[in-house]
Amino acid sequence: MRRHAYHLTTFGCQMNEHDSERVKGMLEALGYVEADQRGEADLILFNTCSIRERADERFIAHLQEAAALKRRAQGTVIGVGGCWAQSVKHEVFERFPYVDVAFGPGQVHKLAEFLTSESLSAQGFFEFESFTGDLPPRRARPHQGWLQVSVGCNCVCSYCIVPSTRGREVSRDPETLLTEVRRQVADGVSEVTLLGQNVNSYGRDLPPGRRTSFADLLARVDAVEGVRRIRYTSPHPKDMREDVIRAHVELPALCEHIHLPLQSGASTVLKRMRRTYTRERYLDRVALIREQLPDCALTTDIIVGFPGETEAEFEQTLSLVDAVGYDGAFTFLYSPRRGTEAATLGEQVAHEVKVQRLERLVDVVQRRAAERAQRFVGRSLEVLIEGPSRTDPARLRGRTRHNKVVNFDGLGEPGDYVDVEISGASSQTLTGAMSLVARAAH
Ligand code: SAH
Ligand code: SF4
Ligand code: F3S
Repeated sequence: MRRHAYHLTTFGCQMNEHDSERVKGMLEALGYVEADQRGEADLILFNTCSIRERADERFIAHLQEAAALKRRAQGTVIGVGGCWAQSVKHEVFERFPYVDVAFGPGQVHKLAEFLTSESLSAQGFFEFESFTGDLPPRRARPHQGWLQVSVGCNCVCSYCIVPSTRGREVSRDPETLLTEVRRQVADGVSEVTLLGQNVNSYGRDLPPGRRTSFADLLARVDAVEGVRRIRYTSPHPKDMREDVIRAHVELPALCEHIHLPLQSGASTVLKRMRRTYTRERYLDRVALIREQLPDCALTTDIIVGFPGETEAEFEQTLSLVDAVGYDGAFTFLYSPRRGTEAATLGEQVAHEVKVQRLERLVDVVQRRAAERAQRFVGRSLEVLIEGPSRTDPARLRGRTRHNKVVNFDGLGEPGDYVDVEISGASSQTLTGAMSLVARAAH
């Protein structure tokens, strides 16, 4: 099957993972099969990310390897989709002449158009369109489905490349989304993750009469029979309202986990980032969550070394992280991005200073996460099995509703829900044994 083999490498966030599943579904509908190795494919694809400089560098190394393969096997087609492709759209074919097709995020259907067109000469597709949902995805995990509720982002965070790669925010029609959820459930999905750059602003841009809210969408997804778990990412603190927090109390399927990106604990930095909330307003959201949902897991994203960040400002981030006690955090070194406002600011923080701050931050994050995780020890938690444990294949790995990874002794198949008695907890993972196994051992 050499003639119709593809290889796809995915970088970046869950939106890209979701798009890649749709690319795979579409290619397989066109008769392609997936190759295990890049060298065995005649269609080499990348779904790219440009969020930080490191993401670009990693990808370019892969792209150069693909170019070398193409030099050896004439006729190999190289395609590049996603945020990096969009951000270099004016120069992609000039700088990388071996690229045959390039397309922006969500433009998966354009790849099909290209592959079925008469000529396979260089083509680029970079219009911002709303999401085309009617492609059959090939899910990496059959029981877990993505639901892209909106595309684009209307925020203007001064460090972020996403508004320029994904365009203005457009919400998808709620009826279309519910049809997609029902279709996924019929196909074996029981956990649905709603995706958007700012999910809480969902629905506000819909035409009058169809206007709706994110909380309302959550309730409608919850009502779909067969949906056992609902997750979403990411909400923006400025739009995190009480109705969504209440939804966590009221909707049985909505999981006990909120990812609330902080970015910085200093109001002065938040202002320069154009995040439009202050330290106090953020802490007020956290207080509301803790009051209504004391057991809810809270995770976040933090950037260190934003231009002009002083030691005192950084310490405010440390003190906030200590005070909140997150269950986990993604921490990043600030990376200047082409075309963003922050990249033009003077006072870039020295790399060594950034690295040192990151280490100090990670220490606090991990200490607090480990402390928080102790509350699970001794409890029996529902776990959705994902597969064998990565460290010990004799054990299983799964996730709790709090989004904690659990490695445990037990029996079951990916997609099964089982109860696990938790016996140990670190900052990253929990350990335990399936309730039946735990009881038998006593
Ligand atoms: N829309 C999402 C974020 C998507 S990007 C949100 O606002 O929550 C994921 C994370 O990458 C961001 O939350 C931020 O912490 C980080 N990030 C974005 N741009 C960055 C940059 N230029 N340098 C370092 N980290 C960045
Ligand atoms: Fe980027 Fe800010 Fe939009 Fe998130 S909310 S995608 S950080 S501009
Ligand atoms: Fe990367 Fe684009 Fe996602 S830049 S993080 S793939 S939105």
